[in-house]
Amino acid sequence: MSETAKISIEGKEFELPVITGSEGEKAIDISKLRSLSGYITIDPGFKNTGATTSGITFLDGELGILRHRGYDIEDLAANCSFLEVSYLILNGELPTAEELKAFETNISEHTLVNEGMEAMFKAFPTGSHPMGQLSSMISSLSLYYPKALNPNRPEESIQRTIIRLMAKMPTICAMIYKKSKGHPLVYPNNSLDYVTNYLNMSFGQVSDPNYKPDPVVVEAMNKLLILHADHEQNCSASTVRVVGSSQSNLYSSIAAGISALWGPLHGGANQEVLEMLEAIKNDGGDVQKYINKAKDKNDPFRLMGFGHRVYKNFDPRAKIIKKSADDVLAKLGVNDPILEIAKGLEVAALNDPYFVEKKLFPNVDFYSGIIYRALGFPTEFFTVLFALGRLPGWISQWQEMRRDKQPIARPRQIYTGAAPREFVPLNKR
Ligand code: ACO
Repeated sequence: MSETAKISIEGKEFELPVITGSEGEKAIDISKLRSLSGYITIDPGFKNTGATTSGITFLDGELGILRHRGYDIEDLAANCSFLEVSYLILNGELPTAEELKAFETNISEHTLVNEGMEAMFKAFPTGSHPMGQLSSMISSLSLYYPKALNPNRPEESIQRTIIRLMAKMPTICAMIYKKSKGHPLVYPNNSLDYVTNYLNMSFGQVSDPNYKPDPVVVEAMNKLLILHADHEQNCSASTVRVVGSSQSNLYSSIAAGISALWGPLHGGANQEVLEMLEAIKNDGGDVQKYINKAKDKNDPFRLMGFGHRVYKNFDPRAKIIKKSADDVLAKLGVNDPILEIAKGLEVAALNDPYFVEKKLFPNVDFYSGIIYRALGFPTEFFTVLFALGRLPGWISQWQEMRRDKQPIARPRQIYTGAAPREFVPLNKR
């Protein structure tokens, strides 16, 4: 007999089904609780609420485990290309050599964006944040491909949208970067691999057809994209699912995910971390002063890049990135004082009872910005790079939500406002 849980409310007992995941995780299915008892559950920020079952990513926050489709992130980051991992996340299996080639070729044939999209840059005010631009441009793809608006179109057509998104995202990210510099656009070169092509569009020059990104930079970028590829039901992935659950199209669902990622408590933290490290450096490098500020309940300051909703031991991605930051800076011969401040801050925090007791550890954003900076990206652009890496995860979450025929996301609430009262006309108030 399948497992159940008993909940006792006002002397009455209700038996609810228990769901067990493939890693032994348990959940009480409360979806019928209201119809049985009149009660709902409440959980602001969904700290203890599973919104779905999912077969894409497993993470164990206590043990610091992250796996995509059963494969450890450490193995994927050490051995794969970003598109190989994207294929895995999107399709559930690692590709064969032929499958990967076909996937890469398919993507490389859709990298151009409609010339009309360049006109959008004329409308963006100078200095607009790149994440706002990215969200707008991805949303506008739905205007260029209106067939994507039909929620009942065949799977083949959905697959084309997925390939388009994967193909056009690097082009759009590079356009935003080039336009911010006032430089002419470098068009996609379909003979290059995904990461090299992106770097070429970003750092290559129209006047220099022989530009080749440093292999160290290509490798670092590839690893960073893999480390960001998916992270189960985080704020932006949940946003993509919630928006998609109304049968809104994939482009607009992803644009919403980009907006969610932008916030400083989520992907925007990578920009905030670098700005914080800069501020500490410019303030004389007194790490302890900032640790004390973060501990002070009357000070809104938080140690950016520390803490995680799920990881309560260490973030496995941060471990890989920290090593990568050391390697990349050494190989590129960059001596960045910011790295020393970051290391000092990490040691001080990890030895401080406040951070130890609250289980606050460096997260993925703590070291990624240092690498992005070494690669030559401006601070404001860091979250765009996170979005570029997270794209396959968002798409896969959207596909799973759709294939599982999940109902429209529509939480309930407990009303705490005014009791019914008599209306008072304007002239009597
Ligand atoms: N600095 C100082 N104190 C912190 C920090 C921090 N970075 N993070 C959490 N705390 C404290 C909180 O004040 C709270 O203390 P209290 O229990 O005395 O009230 C306690 O630790 C728990 O924190 P919550 O905010 O309740 O935890 P939650 O799971 O809601 O938030 C979050 C997690 C948003 C990541 C939080 O740790 C944070 O703001 N970190 C800084 C921003 C950041 O790095 N975000 C990136 C996350 S990773 C990602 O999205 C890719």
